[in-house]
Amino acid sequence: MERFDTAYFDTPQDRRGTGSLKYGTPPAGAPADVIPMWVADMDFPTPPAVTAALRRAGERTIFGYTAVDEGHWDTVASWYRRRMGWTIDQSWFAPIPSVLSGVSAAVRALAAPGEGVVLCQPVYYPFARIITGCGRSLRIAPLRLEGTRCTFDYDAIEKELSRKDCKVFLLCNPHNPVARVWTREELQKLGELCLRHGVVIVSDEIHADLILDERRHVPMASVSEELAQITVTAMAPTKTFNMAGIPAAHLIIPNEELRGKVRDMCWASGLAGWGVASMLAARAAYGESEPWLEGLLDYLRGNREVLYEAFPAGGPIVCLPVEGTYLAWLDCRGLGLDDGSLHDLFLKKAGVWLDDGTMFGKGGEGFMRLNFACQRATLTQAIRRIKTAAGMN
Ligand SMILES: Cc1ncc(COP(=O)(O)O)c(C=O)c1O
Repeated sequence: MERFDTAYFDTPQDRRGTGSLKYGTPPAGAPADVIPMWVADMDFPTPPAVTAALRRAGERTIFGYTAVDEGHWDTVASWYRRRMGWTIDQSWFAPIPSVLSGVSAAVRALAAPGEGVVLCQPVYYPFARIITGCGRSLRIAPLRLEGTRCTFDYDAIEKELSRKDCKVFLLCNPHNPVARVWTREELQKLGELCLRHGVVIVSDEIHADLILDERRHVPMASVSEELAQITVTAMAPTKTFNMAGIPAAHLIIPNEELRGKVRDMCWASGLAGWGVASMLAARAAYGESEPWLEGLLDYLRGNREVLYEAFPAGGPIVCLPVEGTYLAWLDCRGLGLDDGSLHDLFLKKAGVWLDDGTMFGKGGEGFMRLNFACQRATLTQAIRRIKTAAGMN
């Protein structure tokens, strides 16, 4: 049987010329040997059970419409029960191509044009584009940075929720890019504010399986029955199992009325269902790839230690605690550079392709986001380049 240990994840993968977005054309000024550490996919092979399922699917001779059967949702529900202690009824699930398509449908179903949708920046940048792009009003309640830890600013959140036309709170749990895994207490407090002001929660939990600390992910909808009734959860196996190129996401909506509205919007947007490859890959992921995930998490924890050691508190670049995700939020304010110069230092001088903090909105100034789901040798090389470019050796 294959072992998912350090040697497995250490094996170099050549992704150039495979149509990979991550390894595509870099921004202007990047050296030819630039190391891509930006978009959130991993340089590790997708679990063998998933690739085997896709090979079997490829042997079929007919590719008709796909019915997602009960057995499939049993497998997915069992995953949530085992790993997060959340019991889900089959009727709450809906297949969607991607998490963002589900977030967009939910936002449009639950807030009318012009109505308010609140989010906490810095946050995954497509959220703001979805809200403004579909004509809803973007309301920002910035996170608060206390030392090296980002927290919710409940006063700022309540100020936005209490506005008459505010309809949706868009949550990122765990939070990309600040790598916080929100605690039950934090979610409870946030949820109570939403309940008090009659605002529904759309919770993007795509990073939920990537918890690096020794605790469990808490789904917002599992905090209480009352919160389950106002929460739409968007999830996928795609981040967890490195299969973002396969449309295989799902929504979980316990409340019948909300479910009806969001499903209608999915239909209105032509967003119904999956192809057969999506179903088979998702089932092999949740049903057969747990040992692979445990191996991955161990490896990511090792990479996190390498980053902590390279960029400790008090230095010119500080790696904030990474509780979950494989995205490190680097506080580079100690370098004393403006954001243009910071971009140039990383991309052009160091030759590492990260996402600029400013892409994530308010509070991103002076930060860079580094994707450390790569072979350790690559991470070490990137750190060496960054330190040399920043004069930290
Ligand atoms: C928080 C978050 N949501 C959604 C996505 C994208 O998910 P999908 O490709 O399923 O739309 C990402 C990808 O990085 C993400 O970080």
